[in-house]
Amino acid sequence: MKDAILRLLKERRPEPVSGEDICKSLNVTRTAIWKHMQVLRESGYEIEARPRAGYTLTGIPDRLYPEEILDGLSTRFLGRKIYYCDSVSTTNETAKELARQGAAEGAVVVAEEQTGGKGRLGRRWFAPKYKGIWFSLILCPPVLPPEANQVTMLAAVAVAAAIRKETGIAVGIKWPNDLLVSGRKICGILTELSAEMERINYMVVGIGINVNQEQTDFPEEFRESAASLRTASGIKINRVKLIRAALAEFEQWYEIWLERGFTPVLASWKEMSVSLHCQVRIHAPNKSWEGWAEDIDSDGALLLRLPGGELQRVISGEVSL
Ligand code: BTN
Repeated sequence: MKDAILRLLKERRPEPVSGEDICKSLNVTRTAIWKHMQVLRESGYEIEARPRAGYTLTGIPDRLYPEEILDGLSTRFLGRKIYYCDSVSTTNETAKELARQGAAEGAVVVAEEQTGGKGRLGRRWFAPKYKGIWFSLILCPPVLPPEANQVTMLAAVAVAAAIRKETGIAVGIKWPNDLLVSGRKICGILTELSAEMERINYMVVGIGINVNQEQTDFPEEFRESAASLRTASGIKINRVKLIRAALAEFEQWYEIWLERGFTPVLASWKEMSVSLHCQVRIHAPNKSWEGWAEDIDSDGALLLRLPGGELQRVISGEVSL
């Protein structure tokens, strides 16, 4: 009922809707309407009530509420079920738990804040309240476990495309799946997998986008290397529109990948790459190399031409440009 009232207020915006109209169209009592208006206000919606005119929606909160994301979402299956958390340790853990309990493919966990956000290679991920988009997708791709890496690269392509379309900011991809603006990281992706030898049970693709932080919001350890879309553009970004665009792009790319394989995804990844055909240093857990980033192979591994001329295939690590 609350959602139906909100829909009505949105449809009529900026005009008011009379209490009588709401009663008639939704078959509720005036007392019930008043209670729902209070609940909406507590969630941050600004609603003016004027004696004879009725209720006018004057403000929508900056929150990643499922009903806001769903309002205008163009996807077929991705994000059709959204689990919303005001605060959570990490959306990846919540998504894994839901997947174990049988959540459907395409379900999404989104949080306003993560208190124990996880990054790649055992690092932590800073995810402050209302400043970014911290979300995890539950997928069951019908491929063998070694091919799962392709979905992570697909995620980088999709989110980069969504950011470019929604904000006009020229984000680039750094191998394997970091998104950068002017050399600073604005998005990271952490994929986790439950699999057997021959099949993937479920896959959780965790995506963190720094959206509206100020540079001083970042803890000391990230201040030099990270940025937000806001610091990059000087403009406060609408998080709901951006997550909607990211879900739509992801689903489009996922369907392309299911139909035509990794080739078109990789081509797009290469087009947006800022870490190919240049000199790089790579830090892997027990090793590091310097060389020329020559290519990416069909598994997403980086082919590094070492100073001695030999080609080193790198499957995991951190690139410094
Ligand atoms: C990285 O670049 O190190 C990966 C960062 C991944 C961050 C996202 S935010 C949503 C999801 N939940 C987590 O704890 N991590 C991922």
